[in-house]
Amino acid sequence: MSASHPTTASNTAADAAAELAADVDAEAGIPDQGRAFSTEDYFNTQRPPASLKEKTEAMRAFVDKWNIDGKKVVLVTSGGTTVPLESNTVRYLDNFSAGTRGATSAEYFLQAGYAVIFLHRTHSLRPFSRHYSHSMNPFLDLLTVNNGDQIDVVPGQASKLLPILKAYHQAHDEGSILSVNFQTVNDYLWLLRAVAGVMAPLGRKCMYYLAAAVSDFFLPDDRVAEHKIQSTHGALVLEMDQVPKVLRPLVQEWTPEGYIVSFKLETDDNLLIPKARAALARYGHQLVIGNELHKRKSEVVFVERSHHEKSRGDRSVTGAQTPPLASSAGDVPGMYTETWLRLPELAAGRAATDEVEIEEFIIQALLERHHEWIAQGEQAQANA
Ligand code: PMT
Repeated sequence: MSASHPTTASNTAADAAAELAADVDAEAGIPDQGRAFSTEDYFNTQRPPASLKEKTEAMRAFVDKWNIDGKKVVLVTSGGTTVPLESNTVRYLDNFSAGTRGATSAEYFLQAGYAVIFLHRTHSLRPFSRHYSHSMNPFLDLLTVNNGDQIDVVPGQASKLLPILKAYHQAHDEGSILSVNFQTVNDYLWLLRAVAGVMAPLGRKCMYYLAAAVSDFFLPDDRVAEHKIQSTHGALVLEMDQVPKVLRPLVQEWTPEGYIVSFKLETDDNLLIPKARAALARYGHQLVIGNELHKRKSEVVFVERSHHEKSRGDRSVTGAQTPPLASSAGDVPGMYTETWLRLPELAAGRAATDEVEIEEFIIQALLERHHEWIAQGEQAQANA
């Protein structure tokens, strides 16, 4: 990473403004170091993953089936992307995300009647099985041997397992979830573009829920070592290029009608809202859900255009006219609204023994918004 991205802990307003300004440049494709790839350059120069065709066909079949049935379809992206340092990969750069947000959200979308394409990092958490992850709640601890050769569920565990098992079987029997895996940031970008093409015929009936933690930096194919990098050459110095921000073509070209929710992760609370507003101003999508790393399981903020701004048009992309983020488009009074969702307030009235997850409330709030998005489209068609 470049020297203009401060790595020391300092939370001054000046640092926040500098971070924001650097982000403007990055999102506008102005690198402070390394090569800048436009999305087009990226797909013209980087090799697609071997399984792209097969996965695209599986996604197409899934979408066609549910489109005929009139079901709404959501793409949930989940987990972190890797950046391999070698093509015969021994080492890679990774991201902290375990895929909890994505896997949990997918369950609530299924419960709400959506068909779900779950685009996830290989071996990250999956809907349903996430409740029994090997580190938190090992599967074998649920079982007990009875009479020497029978297997039983440990008393007290069956009642917790039953609703999860039922929901799991229902989703699989109906075929309402399709899991598609990625490993690298390159896999992710190719698959995202492919799935957007496949989902486009759904018009407003599709939603994008972009919870994956996508790398901002990568090593282009022509600079990746073929074999394991040898330590005999001394220190390893890496210069990575910037990954194009694919939110821009996603919103503006690949899926002009989909309802798009992106996530904004920050570790500095001061940056969360200005950067979420800046992303909305720059890409023109519907909603940014901001979350701070350490509080992400208990609070999130919905940042969206205020109602009168929304009613001015579908996707009022300000693009090149957007003022620099450091002075932030979000500073225009009344242009954006922020809605905080916080546990435990949201869970007030629930039994203390109930395990409450913030994703339940996130999805509930999205259902209304997606419904309104679809209704607006129908109204516009009726008026046309
Ligand atoms: O898995 P968990 O442990 O539950 O953690 C969940 C989470 C914190 C990872 C999730 O809630 C979250 O915030 N995901 C988005 C993380 C992220 O990539 O944030 P960002 O600020 O770097 O990117 C913002 C948006 O731009 C993202 O929606 C991303 O999909 C998009 N992006 C990012 C990089 C890139 N090159 N192109 C993009 O379009």
